[in-house]
Amino acid sequence: MAIVKNKAQPDGASIQLPKHIAFIMDGNGRWAKKRLLPRSLGHNEGGKTFKDIVTYCRELGIEYVSFYAFSTENWKRPKEEVNAIMLLFKQYIADARNYFKHEIRFIFLGDKAMFTPDIREDMLALEEDSKHFNKMTVLLAINYGGRDDIVHACKRICSKVQSGEISIDDIDEDRFQNELYTLHSPSVDLLVRTSGEYRISNFLLWQCAYAEFYFTDVLWPDFNRSELDKAISEFSKRSRRFGGV
Ligand code: IPE
Ligand code: IPE
Ligand code: MG
Repeated sequence: MAIVKNKAQPDGASIQLPKHIAFIMDGNGRWAKKRLLPRSLGHNEGGKTFKDIVTYCRELGIEYVSFYAFSTENWKRPKEEVNAIMLLFKQYIADARNYFKHEIRFIFLGDKAMFTPDIREDMLALEEDSKHFNKMTVLLAINYGGRDDIVHACKRICSKVQSGEISIDDIDEDRFQNELYTLHSPSVDLLVRTSGEYRISNFLLWQCAYAEFYFTDVLWPDFNRSELDKAISEFSKRSRRFGGV
C-alpha cells in the first residue's frame, strides 16, 4: 500500500504527512558484514537507498528531509573507510544535480572546513546552484554533530553580542534557532533510525525536541519505500501534544 498525500487509508484514517523527516541512515557496515563484503560496499548500497528515498519523499510531497551521512565522531573510523566514504560523497554531490529537474534544494549541515578543498567547493556550488528550488529541501548532515551545531550557534550569537549588533536580552529561542545549521528548515517531525539502535547519536539534538521517533531493525541498505510508508503511517497515529493537553 503506497501512501498518497491526505488520502484516506483502508482503516478510514487519513494520513498526516510529516513536514520534516530526518533519517539516521545506520547499518551499512552490518549489511556488508552479513554478506562477507567490505564495509565500503555497504556504504555504496546505502547510497542507492538514499537516492530512492529522496525520490520517494519528493513524490509524497515531503517538504524537508534530513539525512545523517557522517557524524563528527565518524572520523575515528579506519582511514580506508573514511576515504571510501569521502569518495562516495564526491560522487553523490555530482549526482545531486540530476535532481534539479525535480526542483530540490540541497543544504549541508556541519562544518565544511574539515573537507578537502575540492569537496568543499563542490558542496558550496551545489548549495548555491540549488538555492532557488523550493519543492523540497534535502539537508545533508556531513561532519555533523548536534553538540557542535549548538556550540557553533553559541559562538555566532556571542560574536553578534560582542560587536554590539544585538544585546544579551535579544537572545531567545527563535534567534538561537536562526544560528543553527538548520536555519532554513523547521523542527523535525519524524525521526527514523534504521538498524535496531535506539539512540540519537548526536544527530539534530535541538531540532528533535518534539520529534516523533521511529526505530526499525531494517538495515539502511534494505530500507525502502514500503518501510517508509510504515514509518509515516505510524507517525500518523501518534498524538502530538507539544506539552499541551
Ligand atoms: C551508517 O552505517 C553510515 C555511517 C555512519 C557513515 P554504519 O557504517 O554505521 O553501519 P554499522 O552501524 O556499522 O552497521
Ligand atoms: C550515526 O551512526 C551516524 C550516521 C548514521 C552517519 P553511528 O553508527 O556512527 O552511531 P553509533 O556509533 O552506533 O552510535
Ligand atoms: Mg552504525
